[in-house]
Amino acid sequence: MPNLLSRGLFSLFFGGRRKPLASLPGPPPGILGNIGDFLGAQPWDVCARYARTYGPVAVTWLGPSPALVLNDPTLIHEVLETRRLEFEKGNIGDQIRHSVTDDTPFIAQQGEDWARKHAMDPLAQPWTPTWQAAQVEPLRAAILESVEALLQQPSIDLTPTLRKLTFDAFCVATVGEKLPTSVYDDFMLLAAAADARIQAKLPLKFVSPPKGFADAKERFYGLFLDKVRAARKNPAPHRVDLMSWTLREMPQLDDGVHAHLLGGFFFGGVFSSSTTLVGAFHQLNKYPATEERLALESAALAQGPLTLERLKDAPWGEAVAYEALRILPAVRIFLRRTPPTPTRLAEVTLPPGTTLMISNQHLHRDPSHWTDPETFAPERWLDGGAARNPHGSGHFFPFGRGPRACVAGDFAMVYLRTALATVSARARIHVDSTEPFEEGFFFGVVRPQGVTGKLVPRQQQTLHPPTGAPPPPAVESA
Ligand code: HEM
Repeated sequence: MPNLLSRGLFSLFFGGRRKPLASLPGPPPGILGNIGDFLGAQPWDVCARYARTYGPVAVTWLGPSPALVLNDPTLIHEVLETRRLEFEKGNIGDQIRHSVTDDTPFIAQQGEDWARKHAMDPLAQPWTPTWQAAQVEPLRAAILESVEALLQQPSIDLTPTLRKLTFDAFCVATVGEKLPTSVYDDFMLLAAAADARIQAKLPLKFVSPPKGFADAKERFYGLFLDKVRAARKNPAPHRVDLMSWTLREMPQLDDGVHAHLLGGFFFGGVFSSSTTLVGAFHQLNKYPATEERLALESAALAQGPLTLERLKDAPWGEAVAYEALRILPAVRIFLRRTPPTPTRLAEVTLPPGTTLMISNQHLHRDPSHWTDPETFAPERWLDGGAARNPHGSGHFFPFGRGPRACVAGDFAMVYLRTALATVSARARIHVDSTEPFEEGFFFGVVRPQGVTGKLVPRQQQTLHPPTGAPPPPAVESA
């Protein structure tokens, strides 16, 4: 909390700006506003703390400019859905455009720009669900190959390990094969360059790209362009990867744009999907009965080729994925900006360009909505639980809300369920500590820190208790 002098100076210089927002609660600002709240703390933790302290809408000051912190499902619905055209996505476009290209809908301007990019996104087509269903077995095979290699390692750091496993699986889903490690290195360099801009404390013109950025970018997107051109020359009707499928369904799509969208797939999904897996395996270690139930279900699935139909008969894996997305959502903060004219929201008039901070951290654990919210309890998603809280609803939006929610949310669910089932059938991921891990931030996504462990092959373990007692009950032990 800023001291009296600092608060007095803020009132002296900027008091007039507070008047129109006086009806909203929030921390008292000092001469630098409430910037101090955000130093050394993750922004989603600050948003959750504001929810507990000030309620569903709070005003905070970033220097002399106000920002609204929204933890109210109705207002969030307004900003992300009904009035979404008024609110652009902060300055994420300027931060990541150099790395992800301008063709991705992720950084499109609301309205016509987004509609045009969304319409030509292979992930938003009527045939996308059929493509998705065809990925289950290729993803399983790719993940299993990675698991076999990881079983040879005496110890792993889960975050980079599952990130690489996810990257490799996504290579198979997008272009039908794993790609050399040098491609992963280029991807990580481009992601680090974007992250440096996202987290920059200086104006972006002072943030230089890392050494080798231009070459890495040319190689990374050039590789996808070469692959698209080769596949166009030699069509292979049996191939199910996204590139081949897109060439069949959307032959008019420009090869350059196609290559950019294939490359963009990795930025959209690798960090978020692998972070979710780290969270899931960490929680599974904490709740052994839950883990055992997943292992049993996965062992049954491993008896034959994996299909979406068979995954649908495996509700525990889906429930584990949902619960990981609830309790440890990988994308926890969504920024929006009000238009360049004064805007009414939350019954106040906000100055042009006001930042809106939306986080799912508090709502995903809101005790007025969830029973026992701090417990990892996948059973809450069974027996109609998933229908009561569909993703994109007021208290569960790991993929965002409204038309700009994740275009690949359904694919991500297919991937998470396939990965959980494949890993759990073959190995147990043992983590060294089930204490909450530290969370960093990378490329706009939560980055679990220091979660180490190892893979233990399943056949060396007992899936059923040795006494011959029945398998553990569905309810998790706290
Ligand atoms: C567990 C995995 C994932 C999570 C938690 C996640 C989360 C999100 C969230 C929260 C948004 C909305 C951001 C906002 O409104 O500001 C979003 C948008 C998006 N995501 Fe994902 N995502 C995941 C996987 C993926 C994958 C695999 C892709 C692959 C292409 C992807 C591509 C995108 C794109 C292109 C958008 C922008 C959509 C638009 O603006 O039309 N995501 N994602």
